Amino acid sequence: MNPLDMALKDRVTSAFASAHGHAPMLVARAPGRVNLIGEHTDYNDGFVLPCAIGPSTMVAASPRADREVRIVAADFDNAVDTFNLDTIVQSDQGWANYVRGTVDALQKAGFALGGAHIAIAGNLPKGAGLSSSASLEVAVGQAMLALAKTEIDRTLLAQVAQAAECDFVGTKCGIMDQLISAQGKEGHALLIDCRNLALNDVRVPDNIAIVIVHSGVTRGLVEGHYNERRRQCEVAAARMGVTALRDAAPAMLADADLDPITRKRAWHVITENSRTLAAAEALAAADLAELGRLMAESHASMRDDFEITVPAIDSLVSLMQSAIGNSGGARMTGGGFGGACVAILPTDKVEMLRHAVEAGYRTPDGTKPLIMVERPGPGVALT
Ligand code: GLA
Repeated sequence: MNPLDMALKDRVTSAFASAHGHAPMLVARAPGRVNLIGEHTDYNDGFVLPCAIGPSTMVAASPRADREVRIVAADFDNAVDTFNLDTIVQSDQGWANYVRGTVDALQKAGFALGGAHIAIAGNLPKGAGLSSSASLEVAVGQAMLALAKTEIDRTLLAQVAQAAECDFVGTKCGIMDQLISAQGKEGHALLIDCRNLALNDVRVPDNIAIVIVHSGVTRGLVEGHYNERRRQCEVAAARMGVTALRDAAPAMLADADLDPITRKRAWHVITENSRTLAAAEALAAADLAELGRLMAESHASMRDDFEITVPAIDSLVSLMQSAIGNSGGARMTGGGFGGACVAILPTDKVEMLRHAVEAGYRTPDGTKPLIMVERPGPGVALT
């Protein structure tokens, strides 16, 4: 186990022992993710190209003889939540709803669960668009099923976790975050077809690094904006008479009777799907110049057509793009309205990029931004 995971495992097991008075029976780990390209395409039955990253959420657990679940959250001042498996309702504590929602969704999917003692700790920055919530859902699902000695298909685990977020938490998200947290593969990005959930590995060459820079702009009012974008996409698809924007072509959009905003939203999704397929090919061929060009187009489309970037992110991305030139690319990653930017570039250019970002960008607090240098990691597992 690497030092980052070891430190996190120590933290989650000691939080568990202090709260519950004994050692946990198991610890599940589910990673965060970074999306290389394919933004807001997943809930349009389209394509995404994410990879799992090193930072993760760990869930320590042991069984109880009754139907109670008692959880301590190490990252929220050791706040405690307790609920009964037979009466799961919303909690006033935001973080607790991801746990309650996942347990509820597992039971609704037909899995028989028992009571549990749980502790949670993570080392993903929150509000950075790196899927700390999806990783929590997937880790909780894996831990609860492991206690029940039940195996689950990883894609089904992701679907249950997605249901928790859509139906219980109330963000009408797509499947990308939960699916990559469950199915991530070391050294690879996954080209995911979000219609049939087919996964295609795309190897990330060993001499290429993935750099994530957190803008420090925390994502505000995300659910409202997110659900609104999703509705606009659904309206556009319905007006064109297709099941989802995945099925629409640029020519259909030209003929459709749509208001200018809805048209721009649809244009982003239609073009982003083509860019994502092209980017997977460019990455597989280690054509970083082409990948960088596609990432730049993706960012411009998120900024001008889908309108989910903010000025600080736009300036950070252009700074990163100028530093990288045609040896790779950069764009905002994730749902938008703040969060992180991702760059792909040769490993020997990482320090150059770090210096450029530290010299040229400050977070809204006036501090240097958090910079993470990553390689694609594995999906959920018991540690
Ligand atoms: C969030 C959602 C995903 C996806 C992205 C945007 O991360 O959870 O399902 O829609 O935004 O690509």
